[in-house]
Amino acid sequence: MKVSLLPNCFLIAALLLVGPGCDAPVESFPDNDVYALTLAHSRDVPTEAASRDVSSVIEELFGTPNQPRWPSELMDPDLRISEQNLTRAAGPQLSEKDGTHLGLFREHCVTCHALSGSGAGPASVFQNPYPRDFRPGVYKWKSTQRDAKPTRDDLTKLLQHGVAGSGMPSFSLIDPDDLDALVDYIVYLSVRGETERELMAAAIDELGYGEDSIDDDARLVTQGELVTQGETDGAAVIREVVEEVSNQWASAESEVVPVPAWEELSGETLAASVNRGKELFHGPIANCVGCHGKGGQGQAVTLDYDDWTKEYSTRLGLTPTDRDAMRPFKKAGALTPRLAKPRKLTLGVYRGGGDTDSLYRRITQGIAGSPMPAVAVVEQEDGTGLTSDQIFDLIRYVQSLGPQSTVPQSEFNYQSSTP
Ligand code: HEC
Ligand code: HEC
Repeated sequence: MKVSLLPNCFLIAALLLVGPGCDAPVESFPDNDVYALTLAHSRDVPTEAASRDVSSVIEELFGTPNQPRWPSELMDPDLRISEQNLTRAAGPQLSEKDGTHLGLFREHCVTCHALSGSGAGPASVFQNPYPRDFRPGVYKWKSTQRDAKPTRDDLTKLLQHGVAGSGMPSFSLIDPDDLDALVDYIVYLSVRGETERELMAAAIDELGYGEDSIDDDARLVTQGELVTQGETDGAAVIREVVEEVSNQWASAESEVVPVPAWEELSGETLAASVNRGKELFHGPIANCVGCHGKGGQGQAVTLDYDDWTKEYSTRLGLTPTDRDAMRPFKKAGALTPRLAKPRKLTLGVYRGGGDTDSLYRRITQGIAGSPMPAVAVVEQEDGTGLTSDQIFDLIRYVQSLGPQSTVPQSEFNYQSSTP
């Protein structure tokens, strides 16, 4: 016997009287209409034919919200995702007699991240930053290089800890097997969403889907049949895209940024390191002060957006605050661009971890999808980057700024030595 519980999202949607994502039928995933519109804008071609065919390819490959599918035959074999886990995480919220939980994503995540992982769930409207859109495959809080995917371990830790200072809650109380199923489901939604985007772009740019008539050889779907097995250009493009997207996920482990050995300092050596870090923070190479303000107080005014919303605004030459320009995108389901604010470091709130290893990775990689740039690591001081020792000085300074800092604050108050 199965016990059905009312999906949270319907409750919340009813309370808020808003409901993108929840009132949509769950027989199929909603298409990425915002990306289609973005392509139509940037390529100046119609995208209806591409949307239609890509939509049926994606459903054939990845199934539906109630019956997910993992096309392992086309995937990098090193990317292992359990179909059993996907089934547990997908579908409506249910409990099996033996206590197995089903429908985990709709129980815990859909109100914010939405059914397709677009991040535009009913509760997203009130948040800044917005819940992540998994479909571009860009993640901020990870141990890997800026452009790389997070590892399984990164995603597991993220779910356990949540993202401090954002709407993303901690799921530390969830059963470890459920957590594992959710990690598989994030990868699933991300690979599915990236494949959809890449196929849309390839359909327009490589297969001529923006033209008046499409070559038979270029078609992604022929007479309602999927062509992945065939010898046509359309079939080759589908295989290439899935292979490439899955390969990036499979190689995440090899992209972990190694952190050089560092020393735990105290007393005068710590004070001296913090002071060197303060100089670097306000100096021209790292120029942290340019965004985080003097003493990391977040007073600098920066008017920038994150990559998820820039894609359909500034990168198309549109002004994010221009309501008329944004209207068609909003109608297609886009979230209103909101400023990506540099962190006020004196709060000592770290979304991706305030420990030395995490901060080393944050500073040397920057934060993917956000305006925060990377600082280059150099062997010898040459004016283009910082040595790893200097980066540890900078980290000790940043760590000294927070309220719970064990470094005595009064000794390191910012004195105006730089203009
Ligand atoms: C109340 C809203 C909310 C809920 C519920 C929620 N999230 Fe999030 N999630 C967020 C927000 C907001 C962010 C963006 C944080 C940021 O940009 O720093 C986020 C970010 C993420 C990220 C990306 C982190 C990164 O490194 O970029 C993942 C993965 C994620 N959430 C997974 C989940 C999963 C899985 C669930 C359900 C178990 C879930 N979230 C539930 C709001 C939520
Ligand atoms: C171009 C602007 C910019 C510059 C320059 C910049 N940052 Fe940032 N920084 C940001 C933004 C924006 C965020 C918030 C990102 C987010 O939470 O999505 C951020 C966040 C951070 C965080 C918080 C990380 C976390 O886990 O929450 C730290 C620490 C940080 N920056 C340190 C630095 C240091 C040190 C430097 C100099 C080497 C620096 N930043 C330079 C824009 C910048």
